[in-house]
Amino acid sequence: MSTAEWDKLTEEQLRVNGSLKWTAHEHAIGAWVAEMDYPIAPPIRQALRDYAESELFGYPPPALDAQLAAATSDYYGRHFGWSPEPECVAPIADVLAGLGAVLDIFLDPQAAVVVPTPAYMPFLTYPALKNRRIIQVPMLRDGSGWQMNLPGIREALRNGGGLVLLCNPHNPIGKVYTRQELQSLSEVVEEQGARVFSDEIHSSLIFEGTHRLYASLSLETAAHTITATSATKAFNMPGLKCAQLVFSAPADLDLWRDKGFFIGHGASTPGKLATIAAYTSGDPWRRQVLGYLRDNRDLLAGLLDEHLSWVTWLPPEGTYLGWLDASALGHGERTAEFFLNQARVALVEGAQCGEGSAGFVRMNFALPRPILVEAVKRMGQAASKAGGL
Ligand SMILES: Cc1ncc(COP(=O)(O)O)c(C=O)c1O
Repeated sequence: MSTAEWDKLTEEQLRVNGSLKWTAHEHAIGAWVAEMDYPIAPPIRQALRDYAESELFGYPPPALDAQLAAATSDYYGRHFGWSPEPECVAPIADVLAGLGAVLDIFLDPQAAVVVPTPAYMPFLTYPALKNRRIIQVPMLRDGSGWQMNLPGIREALRNGGGLVLLCNPHNPIGKVYTRQELQSLSEVVEEQGARVFSDEIHSSLIFEGTHRLYASLSLETAAHTITATSATKAFNMPGLKCAQLVFSAPADLDLWRDKGFFIGHGASTPGKLATIAAYTSGDPWRRQVLGYLRDNRDLLAGLLDEHLSWVTWLPPEGTYLGWLDASALGHGERTAEFFLNQARVALVEGAQCGEGSAGFVRMNFALPRPILVEAVKRMGQAASKAGGL
C-alpha cells in the first residue's frame, strides 16, 4: 500500500481494525496513545505469516535471542554508529518492563527517581507503584526551546535521587537532544554518582537533528546507563511484546544474568521474529512513514495557524507527538477532557505529564491526513463555541 492509500483510511475502518487508540473512545478521533494508523511493514507481516505456518509455539529458543541481539546491534550500528556486543542485548516484553527491572534490580532500594517534566506519563506513575519516590524537575523553556534543567537535576540527585529517566527523543515534547546537551547531563550525573535509564524507543522517528544514543556518548555514559529500546514504536507493533535492554556496563550484565531471567521471559516469540524483520528489512517502510509523518507535522503547523491560532507549540524534531499549549482556553487540568467532550477528539491530558503541564495536550498526528485535518477543525470549532477564542 502506498502512502497515498493511507490518506484514504476512514475513521470507520480504523475502528473496525480495533486498535486501542480507536476503540477506547467510541465516537472520538483517536489522537492520544502512541500508535500509528498505517498498515504494518510488509516484511513484518510476512515474518508473522511464516510464523503462523511454523511449529514454533513453545518457549523461544536461545538461537532466536541470539538472532535478535545480532539484528539489534547491527541496526543501531548502521543508524547511530553504536553496535553493542550482541551478548549485551537482552530481550524483554516492553520498555516499561525494562524500567521495572532497572528499579527492582539495579537501583539502590532507597534511591528516588528523577523525572524531567513534561514526561511520558508512566514515568510519573510506574516508579510510585514500586514504592519509589519521584522527584519531578520541570524543564526550562527559553527562546530556543525546551532545555534540561541541569541545576534542578543536580539538586534532585543531591536530595536522594539515584536515577534520571531520560527520554531521547523526548516524549511528549519531541526534542532530539544534541551531543552537547547529553554531555552536560552526563557531567551532572557523574558528579553525583547517579545512573541513567535511557529510553530510546522513539530513536527511529527523527525528522531533524542527529540522534545520539546517550550510552554511546562516552565511557562515562556507557558506565552509568542502562538503555531501553524497541522496534515497536517506529514499526507500530507494541502489542507483539518485544523490546531490548542494552547493558553497556559489564557489572550490569553480570547482575542481569543473575537476576533477569524471569523479566526476559516476558518477550514473545512473534515479537522477536517481527523485531528481527523490522531491524533487518523494515527500513524502506520506515522511511515512507517518516516522510508521511513529517508532512503531517508540517500540515499540523498550518492547521493550528488556521483553526487554533492561540495554541502555541514547537514542531517536534522527532516522534509523532505534538505538545500543544492550549492553556489560553482556561481549562487547566481538563483541557483534553474539553476536546474529548466538545470536539470528539481524544488527546492526552497534559496534566498527566507532570508539573507545569496543565493546559497542554499531547496530540498524536500519526493519523491519515484527512482525519488530521478534521480533528484540528473540530478542535477549533469547539474552542470558538466555548469562549470566542
Ligand atoms: C517514551 C516511551 N517509553 C515507553 C513507552 C512504552 O513502551 P512499551 O510499550 O514498550 O512499554 C512509550 C509508549 O508510547 C513511550 O512513548
